Amino acid sequence: MSQIICIIGNKGGTGKTTLSHMLCQGFGLLGQRSACILTDVEREPLLPDGRRYVLADARNPDAMHKVIAKLRSMPSWVGVIDGGGNRSEMDKLISSYADLILLPFRDSHEDMRTVRKDLASFPQAYALPAQWPSNAWQRDAAERNITQLLDPYRSRLLQPTASLSASKMLLQRQIPDSLPTPLGNACRALARQVMAVLEQHQAADLRPQAGTQPAVRLVSSGPTPEAAEAAPTESQQARQVANA
Ligand SMILES: Nc1ncnc2c1ncn2[C@@H]1O[C@H](COP(=O)(O)OP(=O)(O)O)[C@@H](O)[C@H]1O
Ligand SMILES: [Mg+2]
Repeated sequence: MSQIICIIGNKGGTGKTTLSHMLCQGFGLLGQRSACILTDVEREPLLPDGRRYVLADARNPDAMHKVIAKLRSMPSWVGVIDGGGNRSEMDKLISSYADLILLPFRDSHEDMRTVRKDLASFPQAYALPAQWPSNAWQRDAAERNITQLLDPYRSRLLQPTASLSASKMLLQRQIPDSLPTPLGNACRALARQVMAVLEQHQAADLRPQAGTQPAVRLVSSGPTPEAAEAAPTESQQARQVANA
């Protein structure tokens, strides 16, 4: 069966949209077919050309049901739903479809207080440190903030995705012909980590509870990604998801 991942959270600007696209691009680079699902009514759809994934427009609940139904009928696909932020009701709807819920947050007390609430509201969700500092001193400070504000939830924190200026290229309406190598590497690393968590979830059929589960296996050598061979129906399937 296909897998649905949603990236939500009750705060704008945490990186939901960027991470949704990075995750899908990473899946594509690893040979895993995926669809990035737009739900934010404030945003316009982007152009699909050059991306390693399909784009689907689900900006109203009816369109959302159709896209999810189509994906569910397409085994071996992964759908990544980009939540809109500041929309608790929509987040609940989106999360009801999801096999895995990701809650990005940045290194700020405000983001951490918000994600703490979201982790309590979505007991099966994982928090994803996003736009994380790469400078050692700043990382230490971020770690102290986590100890102060998120310590009880450590078992539900994934490995950080670093701040990367090139990540905004994936949100251009039309992406450039070639993307920088560090962006591809970051996309792959994110996708590997999420694949590992998905696999772990499925294998144990577990849903984490605050403070009670063993730490999630973080970035790993990961499962062998599905081979990137082009199935005869791939482009048809892609069109079906995009047009659902
Ligand atoms: N990994 C990253 N590194 C650097 N900047 C980022 C990263 N992820 C997001 N950003 C920037 O942060 C801002 C908000 O990101 P966005 O993905 O639109 O968040 P959201 O969808 O949660 O509102 C954008 O300007 C985006 O370019
Ligand atoms: Mg967004």
